[in-house]
Amino acid sequence: MDNNINKVLEEFENDLKTVDDEKALEDVRLKYTGKKGAVNNLMRLMADLSAEAKKTFGAEVNELKNKVESRLQTFKESLEYNAIMREINNSENFDFSLPERERKGSLHPVTLVQIEIEEIFKQMGFIIEDGNEIETEYNNFEAVNIPKDHPARDMQDTYFLNNGQVLKTHTSAAQNRLMKKYGAPLRVLFPGRCFRNENVDACHENTFFQMEGMMIDKNISIANLIYFMKTLLSEVFKQDINVRLRPGFFPFVEPGFELDMSCAVCGGVGCPTCKHSGWLELVPCGMIHPAVLEMGGIDLNEYSGFAFGLGLTRLAMMKYGIKNIRVLNSGNLKTLSQFKTKLY
Ligand code: FA5
Repeated sequence: MDNNINKVLEEFENDLKTVDDEKALEDVRLKYTGKKGAVNNLMRLMADLSAEAKKTFGAEVNELKNKVESRLQTFKESLEYNAIMREINNSENFDFSLPERERKGSLHPVTLVQIEIEEIFKQMGFIIEDGNEIETEYNNFEAVNIPKDHPARDMQDTYFLNNGQVLKTHTSAAQNRLMKKYGAPLRVLFPGRCFRNENVDACHENTFFQMEGMMIDKNISIANLIYFMKTLLSEVFKQDINVRLRPGFFPFVEPGFELDMSCAVCGGVGCPTCKHSGWLELVPCGMIHPAVLEMGGIDLNEYSGFAFGLGLTRLAMMKYGIKNIRVLNSGNLKTLSQFKTKLY
């Protein structure tokens, strides 16, 4: 390195040794990297040099500039750190030896499972979206291939609002909007609260959560669907769990399936939670019906996809061994606060 450059660097380091606050640091910065600072003065020397020498000298001055700037930045950070530590040490109220204060509150079991599933699917390239709780009749029904007067509407006893809109009966109500918003290819997960006018029992509520997923891409098949469902359930339950696939009818998938898991409350023997069948209907799913893709503006010649609509509330029951769904909407802190340790 040229002598001039070495001299500037040495002087800079000496000046830094005298700095003990931000004002002094700013003075040093101006002295070296300011407009009329030492580094720029060196640059000006280049005017008198040959083309060859300019090249070498220019590179060396640049190197010096980078060094000085990086030292200034590190120095600034250490000044800030020291200031914080001084403040903490001088504060009479700060005691490092105190244990962490007990946190109040906890996440709801349904939220815990929701977060867990979202994390699993994020790792598989899915985005997370929100759906509305109040939906148009079109999005809730027509856009998923359930036209007016179709008997499939009877499967979901719906709350209609005075303005003709509905309380979303299933998360599938967001399918059409998401297809239009993102187009294909698409991997999206959309959890949400759903409402149906149900007779409440151990596993039916009038307000419950579903978690829906859609994957649309080239050459998507049932094999992809089964892979994603198995990955999901084994990750959530941290073990291989028994599942069975039955044909299932939903107007918006073809073919459609019901994926059941063996009841984790009774181990498959039969109990009120699983209506004594040993199985719990958990993930209806299937290949998205061409009519639904078309209404969502997806090119059928290029793309196909699968969708699933998982009963999130029921999954939380299975995961935590909660026997009655009513506990989850009860606001009963005695039960719900058991999940305190899982606070995020
Ligand atoms: C549907 O709602 C479809 N939209 C799911 C779907 C999506 C199928 C995409 C295919 C493709 P179903 O009505 O079966 O399907 O409800 C889905 C899940 O929600 C059920 O398996 C169940 O776990 C849960 N569920 C339904 N009704 C209730 C209820 N009243 N209380 C608690 N959980 C419920």
